[in-house]
Amino acid sequence: MTADLPRPAFTEAAPLVSGRPQWRALQRHHDEIGGRHLRELFTTESSRGERYTAEGAGLYLDYSKQRITAETLGLLQDLAVACGLPGRIEAMFRGERINVTEKRAVLHTALRAPADEPIRVGGKDVSPEVHAVLEHMAAFCERVRGGQWTGHGGKPIRNVVNIGIGGSDLGPVMAYEALRHYSRRDLQFRFISNVDGTDFAEAVRDLDAAETLFVICSKTFTTLETLTNAHAARRWCIEALGDEKAVAKHFVAVSTNDQEVVKFGIDTKNMFGFWDWVGGRYSMDSAIGLSTMLAIGPENFRAMLAGFHAMDEHFRNAPLERNLPVLLGLLAVWNNNFLGAETLAVLPYEQYLKRFPAYLQQLTMESNGKHVTLDGRTVDYATSAIYWGEPGTNGQHSFYQLIHQGTRLIPCDFIGFCQPLNPLGQQHDLLMANLFAQSEALAFGKTAEEVHAEGTAAALVPHRTFEGNRPSNTILAEKLTPETLGALVALYEHSVFVQGVIWNIDSFDQWGVELGKALATRTAAELAAKDEPQLSHDSSTNTLIRRYRRLRHSGA
Ligand code: F6P
Repeated sequence: MTADLPRPAFTEAAPLVSGRPQWRALQRHHDEIGGRHLRELFTTESSRGERYTAEGAGLYLDYSKQRITAETLGLLQDLAVACGLPGRIEAMFRGERINVTEKRAVLHTALRAPADEPIRVGGKDVSPEVHAVLEHMAAFCERVRGGQWTGHGGKPIRNVVNIGIGGSDLGPVMAYEALRHYSRRDLQFRFISNVDGTDFAEAVRDLDAAETLFVICSKTFTTLETLTNAHAARRWCIEALGDEKAVAKHFVAVSTNDQEVVKFGIDTKNMFGFWDWVGGRYSMDSAIGLSTMLAIGPENFRAMLAGFHAMDEHFRNAPLERNLPVLLGLLAVWNNNFLGAETLAVLPYEQYLKRFPAYLQQLTMESNGKHVTLDGRTVDYATSAIYWGEPGTNGQHSFYQLIHQGTRLIPCDFIGFCQPLNPLGQQHDLLMANLFAQSEALAFGKTAEEVHAEGTAAALVPHRTFEGNRPSNTILAEKLTPETLGALVALYEHSVFVQGVIWNIDSFDQWGVELGKALATRTAAELAAKDEPQLSHDSSTNTLIRRYRRLRHSGA
């Protein structure tokens, strides 16, 4: 579909970003201000808390507790301009083939654009197709939710099981959890991703097949884990309902590959399509979000898309210095490449966002875990940080100790909401008090003098001292709604893109997953072989395989 698109000019050899004068200026600047403590920065510039903030698409970003000055921001923006960020943003929105190694456009933004906005890919307006799929999804969801779509025996659907992995699982499960407050409570949702049989067995063990709908999500429809689980589901369903014909009523597919869907036995009228210009980890707002729409209904799904779109517009139009994804991306570059932070903790103070860090791990690390530039040269600078996290306040009683007093620098993104979805006494105030307290403690710490002045025994003073100077962002929104979730996800999607542009890498391919897949296929054949196979791996792998073959049935 995208073969006739011209190769973007930015793929011509560019200097490594570390060789650019703007990068070196940032290094010199770091040498000058790197030692300044946030305590000092806030004292010399007392209005930081108002100044270093930005708003867009219903989200408020406070980045005043980052170890930056106005000069840092200016230099980061100079770097962004030198790397051609404004043009690259436009190239993405215009549908240029910015995924250069796969020669594909990157147009997840088209999934949430209004119907009357033409979006061209290879000369063709894709908007009508996008909206036709949305209509198809909405009609199907209304029938399931309204009880008109019935199972093989005529019972309405009560259970929806999403089978997929990576972007075909993490987005749907994150969105389902995040928007559970808005979901139909008389429908049960389960998510199966792991090829470990336990995932399947536990997900279906208490389900009545006659009331269960499987949504098989796979962009390629060739992914080993998903297809294995889908076939297990097919057998489980046919065995329980005693009829092959039941598949038609209990299975739908979401994919770009109609041939494989048909081969599996699902009629294409029960298939919801998307396109090669939607990356797996950028697909939760495509038909991959079918389970989300089944849970929250078409109207809420559309509200989520509107939130995505509002952030897209903000990203495309806001000036760099007030642009949330640009700021978030540039600050991540500053912390990673100049302050030497290797990880970034994402800390939502919202229980419904409990799977958000896991979702972000694929989005950020599969996108920017790259070691060569667009033209194939090895980088001499760090690329993606390691993203991780847990909802607050649980993390406080687990790993925050290391963030406060360990030897590593771990920048944090705090995420909070002003209005609770489940008001319970003063609990929301308590939750948010913890968020504000943590970012304050991380930034300002507690000096040895302060600890000493509290009457602490001298021997304990070093243990009770908090160095502080730990940078963080705080993202605040009014309330967790479908719109806010869309805006939040789009914020991180675009921030990942900004970082990828600075590092001059392809944020939209994922070749690094291939080697393990190929080796697993070969090893699976060796494990399945009846006779002892001739193994030609290294001595460790050979010995492990032999030991496994010997012991696997011994306890049975
Ligand atoms: O192996 C990685 C990956 O290709 C991800 O990028 C993707 O989200 C996942 O596998 C699932 O792929 P599919 O949707 O084609 O089954």
